[in-house]
Amino acid sequence: MILKNSKENIDKAVAEIIAGNIVAFPTETVYGLGANGLNPTAVAKIFEAKQRPSFNPLILHISSRDQLKELVNIENNKVYKLIDTFWPGPLTLVLPKKEIVPDIVTAGNPTVAVRMPQHPIAKRLIEACGKPIAAPSANQFGLLSPTTAEHVEKQLGDKVNIILDGGKSDVGVESTIVEVTENKVWLLRHGGISFEQLKEVCNSIEIKEVDFNKPNAPGQLFHHYAPKIPMKFISEILPNELDGKKVGGLFFQKNTTEINFSHIEFLSVAGDMREAAANLFFNLHKLETKNLDIILVEPVNKKGMGIAIMDRLVKASNRYR
Ligand code: TXA
Ligand code: MG
Repeated sequence: MILKNSKENIDKAVAEIIAGNIVAFPTETVYGLGANGLNPTAVAKIFEAKQRPSFNPLILHISSRDQLKELVNIENNKVYKLIDTFWPGPLTLVLPKKEIVPDIVTAGNPTVAVRMPQHPIAKRLIEACGKPIAAPSANQFGLLSPTTAEHVEKQLGDKVNIILDGGKSDVGVESTIVEVTENKVWLLRHGGISFEQLKEVCNSIEIKEVDFNKPNAPGQLFHHYAPKIPMKFISEILPNELDGKKVGGLFFQKNTTEINFSHIEFLSVAGDMREAAANLFFNLHKLETKNLDIILVEPVNKKGMGIAIMDRLVKASNRYR
């Protein structure tokens, strides 16, 4: 059930988490499906509800730096620089874990992913629980990420008792994930903090190469984030492929084609890449409900947030290759 933002409703969500159950809550990136991150049985309920493979580790969400120190060892001073600049916000750090972090959270990895979100409801929830909250995006595994409470209800409404409503997520794509070990800083997933922003703080950062055959690392599966309707880039359409089909379009600013669309969405009429990211999943969810046979998308410029947007679009279209 979707619950409006109020102290009583946050208290209900806290009670649910303390009792070892799962709750969906808003963050500035996408909605999360949370449980007490130090309680393995509670965390198992997340995997069950999402039908997520257990080799895919989770992010622990925290509300203070003291909490971070309980969970990880910090071996590299760049961690402090990154935290000072980007927390609270859409940056996840993968760091060497301490004993206290259960294996189910990290899928047996010696590292754990940690993030301090900025959304006021997420902050209040984590603080009131007094525990790190393990949370993946609140969608069925492999499908579109949710940026509103209604999106969560559509996919997981029968699996979760409480969905806290915090409005539309204003970043709209998942956090950027960076792994920091003693002498390396790796970018593992593009997201709400751009590569350019990271480089200003850490110029030695490298992008970790993806191996689709070993999907034990973040968002590194070949397909992910997919709508239930086939999706393709416009440049990939074959002759006559659209004949007799109801076609949806997702464009950056304006329709650049002569195609006869049944429904079109625009990421940012003003041409703003951050607005485009905020609308990405929102518009794909909308297109998913329009009874279409296929969704055609226009690629965006791979600059700033455009890299994270293209990562999601390519992975979504890969499902239909
Ligand atoms: O913005 C976000 O990050 C959202 C909100 C809810 O915080 N969460 C999110 O979680 O996107 P999820 O589970 O959908 O994606 C987290 C990614 C996964 O692809 C996982 O493989 C990676 O983080 N990950 C988690 N722990 C890791 C670790 N120890 N090493 C490498 N990758 C890790
Ligand atoms: Mg996800």
